[in-house]
Amino acid sequence: MKRFNIVRILSKAATLLTIMVLPFTLQSCYYDVEEELYQNTPCVTENITFAQTIQPIFQRNCTTCHTGAAGSGGIDLSTHAGASVVANNGRLVGAVTHAGGFTPMPQGASQLPACTINQIKAWVEAGAPNN
Ligand code: HEC
Repeated sequence: MKRFNIVRILSKAATLLTIMVLPFTLQSCYYDVEEELYQNTPCVTENITFAQTIQPIFQRNCTTCHTGAAGSGGIDLSTHAGASVVANNGRLVGAVTHAGGFTPMPQGASQLPACTINQIKAWVEAGAPNN
């Protein structure tokens, strides 16, 4: 009888624990998918700054290959000085929009979300400021 009670209590405890832990598990999945979250929020393309918007995009998607003088294609996206070169010669927008005549970027990954591309375009069109 005692043994039976312990089993029942343990199984109840396990059920309770599952119910308590489940929301956290679901929540962490939800917040991990950053790009999908952005798709559900309006795309902000105004007042784009290099430090707040553009540099984090490059750090997430590009700088593993494009850092320093030995960066792929001789392109350094880890600094404003390097990024502004491809911003101003048209290669940055050509590559991320997968336009003809450019090597599509990011290489080996799917195209950036439309909102991210629009933010890059907005920054380039504003003259690629170091802000
Ligand atoms: C896995 C490595 C890798 C990643 C990640 C990567 N690139 Fe590249 N990128 C390359 C290589 C290699 C080249 C040179 C290939 C070529 O020019 O044919 C290149 C070339 C380029 C060019 C010149 C394209 C042209 O046609 O002139 C631009 C601009 C560029 N990358 C931007 C980016 C941006 C922006 C990102 C992130 C969104 C990115 N790259 C991510 C490897 C990478």
